[in-house]
Amino acid sequence: MRRLPFIAGNWKMNKTVGEALELIRELKVAIAHVKEVEVAVAPPFTALYAVHKELEGTSIRLAAQNLYWEERGAFTGEVSPLMLKEVGCQYVIIGHSERRQFFGESDETVNRKIKAALAQGLKLIFCVGETLKDREEAKTFSVVERQIEGGLRGLGDKELRNMVIAYEPIWAIGTGKTATPEQAEEVHRFIRGKMDKLHSRGVSEEIRIQYGGSVTPENIKGLMNQPNIDGALVGGASLKAESFSKIVRFKEM
Ligand code: 13P
Repeated sequence: MRRLPFIAGNWKMNKTVGEALELIRELKVAIAHVKEVEVAVAPPFTALYAVHKELEGTSIRLAAQNLYWEERGAFTGEVSPLMLKEVGCQYVIIGHSERRQFFGESDETVNRKIKAALAQGLKLIFCVGETLKDREEAKTFSVVERQIEGGLRGLGDKELRNMVIAYEPIWAIGTGKTATPEQAEEVHRFIRGKMDKLHSRGVSEEIRIQYGGSVTPENIKGLMNQPNIDGALVGGASLKAESFSKIVRFKEM
């Protein structure tokens, strides 16, 4: 089964509007010739609209980093799926480990957010991953399994077709300590197997699974060579056009 590689940059809480536009302008040039790789950037909320305008006429997709599940109302500080659609987002990242760790997100709230995004026609990147302690206690598979079952509760094949899963081991995020291609592949294979049990064969073969956690131009190729790794969710290295474009151009290496 051939799956279109998908490289996404999660900018986290970085870049003012001016800095975001500068990065996008450089990036557009650096990856203009790249074919057969889907690319997305996820700037902070404040830069989404400006980046959307700058991306017009390119195939780079725009993603948000979070949303709230209600459509509107008295929810101070939150942003709805409809608002994200309006500023040009095609994707939204849901359940990132930083949201789970620092902002109290649970499998249940992740599930509500996923349903709300899909109901508005947004595609999404659904994040899962274990802590170092989980890994040391040999709980990686059970933790990832719980996150998948909880996050995807009540969803069918049709919904899964609009989703990408990102496996991001927390111990590899921002630490410079990447999972080896074999370590990542093992969990990706497990996730695909789990999808096969929960959903149809077609969906489990089609769904793309990104790896995230200290991805760099140096390690991307080895990761992408694995049969069940279909892309990357890149943090730190997505903040510079030079490193992110090299990751996007992994086929040229
Ligand atoms: P780093 O690439 O900085 O480790 O971040 C990974 C990540 O959390 C992407 O969502």
